[in-house]
Amino acid sequence: MRIELQVNGEHHEADVWEGESLLFALRERLGLPGSKNACEQGECGSCSVFRDGDLVCACLVLAAQAHGREVRTVEGLAAGEAMHPVQEAFVETGAVQCGFCTPGFVVAVTHLLDREPEPSEALVREALSGNLCRCTGYEKILEAVRLASGRMRIREDEL
Ligand code: FES
Ligand code: FES
Repeated sequence: MRIELQVNGEHHEADVWEGESLLFALRERLGLPGSKNACEQGECGSCSVFRDGDLVCACLVLAAQAHGREVRTVEGLAAGEAMHPVQEAFVETGAVQCGFCTPGFVVAVTHLLDREPEPSEALVREALSGNLCRCTGYEKILEAVRLASGRMRIREDEL
């Protein structure tokens, strides 16, 4: 079947099979490998993307369910050469080690801070409970969220 969708602001069309996941279509058909495939079972969050503004695991969404929808992936967060503040914060705090979980965390943190610019630690932990990291022990990731939250609020105030 043929699907049409917006991805990161651009129109895309692809031929997919009926059981194909959005994650597969993004990575293998649309040339967007930023969303990672670590479990393909909705357990790790490494494939997190926005679909019509909602955070979803792209491995659990059929490509067909993205037909006519707006998808935003980790590739769509930076503004040209400038990293998104959440990406900057992950780099600066050392929250990236092997990096396999990082795209999913960056998308999930961006989704959280868009809704709640100054989240409590409990809310951050709850919001990121679907994202697994085997390397960092999570402390650096929590530090990155605090840094990004502070910077995004300052930038918002300056506008
Ligand atoms: S690859 Fe989708 S949740 Fe793990
Ligand atoms: S940085 Fe390696 S899994 Fe998170």
